[in-house]
Order: sequence, then C-alpha cells, then structure tokens
Amino acid sequence: MCGIVGYVGAKPAEGVVIEGLRRLEYRGYDSAGIALVDGGSIVSDKRAGKLANLEKAIAESPLPQVTTGIGHTRWATHGPPTDRNAHPHLGRTRRVALVHNGIIENFAELRGRLESEGVEMASDTDTEVAAHLLEEQLETGVDLTVAMQNVCRGLHGAFTLVAVDAHDPDRVVAARRNSPLVVGIGEGENFLGSDVAAFIEHTREAMELDQDQVVTITRDGVSVSGFDGTPAEGRRYHVDWDLSAAEKDGHDWFMRKEIFEQPRAVADSLLGRRGTDGLLQLDEMRLSDQDLRDVDKIIIIAAGTSFYAGMVAKYAIEHWCRIPVEVELASEFRYRDPILTSDTLVVAISQSGETADTLQAIRHAREQRSKVLSICNTNGSTIPRESDGVIYTHAGPEIGVASTKGFLTQLVACYLLALYLAQVKGTRYGDEISQVMDQLDQMPAHIQTVLDKSEQVYGLARDHVGSRSVLFLGRHAGYPVALEGALKLKEIAYLHAEGFAAGELKHGPIALVEEGLPILCIVPPRGRDQLHDKMISGIQEVRARGARTLCLAEEGDTAIEPYADVLITLPQVPVLLQPLVAVVPLQLFACELATQLGHDVDQPRNLAKSVTVE
Ligand code: F6R
Repeated sequence: MCGIVGYVGAKPAEGVVIEGLRRLEYRGYDSAGIALVDGGSIVSDKRAGKLANLEKAIAESPLPQVTTGIGHTRWATHGPPTDRNAHPHLGRTRRVALVHNGIIENFAELRGRLESEGVEMASDTDTEVAAHLLEEQLETGVDLTVAMQNVCRGLHGAFTLVAVDAHDPDRVVAARRNSPLVVGIGEGENFLGSDVAAFIEHTREAMELDQDQVVTITRDGVSVSGFDGTPAEGRRYHVDWDLSAAEKDGHDWFMRKEIFEQPRAVADSLLGRRGTDGLLQLDEMRLSDQDLRDVDKIIIIAAGTSFYAGMVAKYAIEHWCRIPVEVELASEFRYRDPILTSDTLVVAISQSGETADTLQAIRHAREQRSKVLSICNTNGSTIPRESDGVIYTHAGPEIGVASTKGFLTQLVACYLLALYLAQVKGTRYGDEISQVMDQLDQMPAHIQTVLDKSEQVYGLARDHVGSRSVLFLGRHAGYPVALEGALKLKEIAYLHAEGFAAGELKHGPIALVEEGLPILCIVPPRGRDQLHDKMISGIQEVRARGARTLCLAEEGDTAIEPYADVLITLPQVPVLLQPLVAVVPLQLFACELATQLGHDVDQPRNLAKSVTVE
C-alpha cells in the first residue's frame, strides 16, 4: 500500500528515486510523484496513473540533476487518484515536500484548524495537513528532524512520512507508526524505502526501525530517535537476496516468474529444518517446548490467500496434533471478542508482515496474554517483530500482487508447525513425522512435474477467454485450494469466480449451474475416508446439469475419467499435502487467462501488494 523512496548521496536523485519507485510500484499504482531539493527550493512533479505517466512528464520537462529527493507511488485512500491528490504534497510556502503511506485519522480536525488559519488546501488528502504542520514547525526555527518529532506526536493513525526541507538540502527525515519503513545504508549515500526492494540495487545493508521512531539520513550518517526526541538505535541486518531476485528473468510477468520459482521456494523453506538427530528444529520459533505443550487451542488469523493457507493448516494441525484450531479472518477477529487465554496460541500468517488487519489482530491477542507466532516472508517486517516467535518462509521477494510462491511457502511453514507441535506434544511418533518430512522433501520435484505441463493449462485458459463465470469445487484440504483458485481469477482476470466445498453445493449454489458453465474440480487422492468417491458424486451432480467439468486428479485415477470433460493430472501425494501441487495449475490458469484478456497481471486494478490500512 503506497511505495515510498528517499535518497541523499552523490548520485542524481531522480534516477535513484524513479528506479526505487519502479521496484515498489507493486505496492500501489494509482499515481506517482517525485520531489527534489534544488538550491533552496523544491522541484516536484506528480501524475495520476502508473509510474510511466510520471516518467513521460519528466522526459518532456526534465528535473534538475540534484542529489537529494523523495518519491511515492500511491494506493488511494483519501481522495480519488488524480494529479492533485498524488504525492508529494507541499507546504504553503513550498519549503517542505512530504510523502505518506497510511491514514492520518485525525486529519479532519487538523485540516479544520489549518483552514481556519487561512491555509488553502491543494488536495483532498489526509497527507497534506502533515506538510503544512511541518512547515509551521520549521518556521519556529527547529530543524526538520525536530519538526517531524513534534508533528508526529500530534498525529493519530498509521503512517510512514518522508520529508525534505528546501533550506536543508542534505537531509531527508522520515517517521513511522504502524506502517513500513526501512533504511538502506550505503557508502556516502543513504536510502529510505517502504521495503528493501527500493534500494536493493545500491546496497544490501539495511536497518529496521521500531514503532514511533523518526530517522534522519544524510550522506554520511543515519540517526534514530523516538517521537519524544530520545536517541534510539535501529537494528541493522543484511538482506539475503539481490537485484536478480527482483527482476523478471525473461518472463512476461513477475507472477509467472514467481509461479515457476515455486519448486525452489518450497525447497528453500524446507532447508535446515531437521537436526542431525533427525528431530525437527525451527530456529526462529522462540517459544519454549513447555509453552507449546501448554497450548490448548490455536487460532489462526490471516487475510486473503494467507487465510486459505490457514485453512489448510487447520486440517494438518488437528489431524497430527489433536489440538482444536479456529481459522479467522484478521479483519473480523477483534470485533467478535474472541476467547483468548495464556494457553491459546495465535498464529498470524502474512507474506508481507505488514497487513494492518493482521497486525491489529495480533496486538489484540497479546493484550489478552496469548502467545503469538507468525509465519512470514519478510524479514524485519512489523508482524514478526511484534510476535513471540516466527517461522520465516523463504520464498524470496514476491512482487506480483497476486500471491503464488508466498502461498506455497506458507503451506510449507504450516506443515512444519503442525509437525513440530506433534513432536513436542508427542501426538505422533518420530518415524511418522520423518515420513511426512520425507514426503515434503519430494514436493519440489512434484511441483516441477506440474509446471512441466503448463502448456496444457495455458490451452485450457485460452479456451475460456469468453467465459463470464468459473466455479471451483474442492473437499477437505482441496476446499481452500478451490477458494484460492477462485481468488486468483477474480484478482487478475476480473472474472466472477467462486470456490465451494463440493458437499455444500447441493445446499444452494448448484442453482448457479447452467449449460456450459466451467467448473474446476480438485479431486482428492483416492483411498481416504470416502472423500474421493464423495467428490465424484458432486462432480456427477454438476455434470448432470450441463456444467463443463475441468478436473484435477492424481495420476492413475481412472475413476474420474468418465466424469471429466478435461483432465489435468497431478502427482500422487498424500491428501494433506495435495494443496502444494493442486493450486499450481489454478495459478497458471488465472495468469494465462488474464494475459489473454490483456490485463496487467502484476498490477491488477484496485489492488495493492501490502495492505497497510484497516
Ligand atoms: C491474494 C493476495 C492477498 C493477500 C492478503 C494478505 O493474491 O495477495 O489476498 O494474501 O492481502 O496479505 P499478507 O499475506 O501480506 O498479509
């Protein structure tokens, strides 16, 4: 949600800022803007629409070659995505330029006060008030760092702010509360970004900040303080991926590249999880075995795709550990007054680690003294920092807005958590746990087998370019897969798509079925709990009503053949692990269908990668 870049150094700031924005554009792409400090004044340009519009404007009317600047790509909250609402926003004397991610909740009151004092607002945004307030502070004679501290103490809500002062060209100042911001540490230059992708081509040394901190970067230094001015220290870390991970590698879309990276991402997420004694070890767990033994209930909270990973986790944890598990949408969690005790383990799943709904939910859980464990892909992000323990997935940066390798690696982390709990609680024998770990170790090869058949799925996608609606059916662990397949199609192909539990169809949704309606059916492996046979009955029911059944079923499943208009085979894997292979054709299907429809797959309309507002 909004990408932010700040730079001070020796290079032309325009290039560094625009390149940084390009790498952050997945976070928001309603508008883009830049401000540079040029010999005592601010030069700025900002345009509605994608970054390309800004670049075109700059090409027509070049900016000065100066070395301090800030930039922004926006996901609109207050005010439509127009030129005037694009960031940066300037104060009334044009001394300060400011960019912002988040929502300033008391902006109406602040705006009222400023207007009553004669300030004319140039936009509909909540952000602009902060630019005026900073200028007011600077006029009292303090520097931009102190001005930022003073202003932030009076703001409510969630925000990252980054500002420059025309009179102080060697300084960029930023602040954060409940919204992402990292510092990039270079030699003779320093950077600010919503995430490390903003500066990864310049430096892999980064610093994370705590809540309610202000950071000042100059060419030669970085200093951190609290909103009250107390000096503080950021935590430095090395980023373990490089520029090539943030490039498309010859694919047309980041999403497609990330789908094909899944065998590696799954393998990386499994790496180093077994000790020499064969026991599972989760280094970043930080919760003691006794804490885990005391757990009598687990609540999983997450949003979107991560929520579906949580649904799969419920099947795995309940089956292997016999602990009751609830899965809850993060945005709903706090509002139902959940029953939480110190023996409740709350598991937060978030690829970005910055999702505001999930963050607020874990804060609520910790206030109730529950332990929080997060499953996250982003080192240094807020959710793992505010958790008692964390299992990092090792997917590498996920740039495509629609999550793919993020989901598969979350599934891996969920299985690992379930097996670890089973080990600690003794609900499974060691050899059973080893057997599942061996099966997991084979998954990268199985996922590759599915990817090797991508042409068949692409053909299927091309056949469905004219479809107005697609349904997805699954049972057991295949049900969240159906939901995820439908979400992918909605997000990037803008098609009506619904996922259903196959057994539920006859209770209402079957009325939707009409002649020729495509239904993607995720058929469970044979041989367990009659799941497979029940699924076939469901498929027969929709076929009898004219549906076109596109079935995903395991290799050798001949029973499905008479009922499948199209059959895509999956490797033979246990039912609980099947989501790891079954979701892949659905990702490929959505990606190709959206491409055929001419949509921007990586930046679908109305969406943003990291949803940092509630
Ligand atoms: C779907 C998608 C979203 C995210 C959701 C949670 O493709 O990407 O539904 O899964 O916004 O995001 P994280 O996992 O970053 O908390």
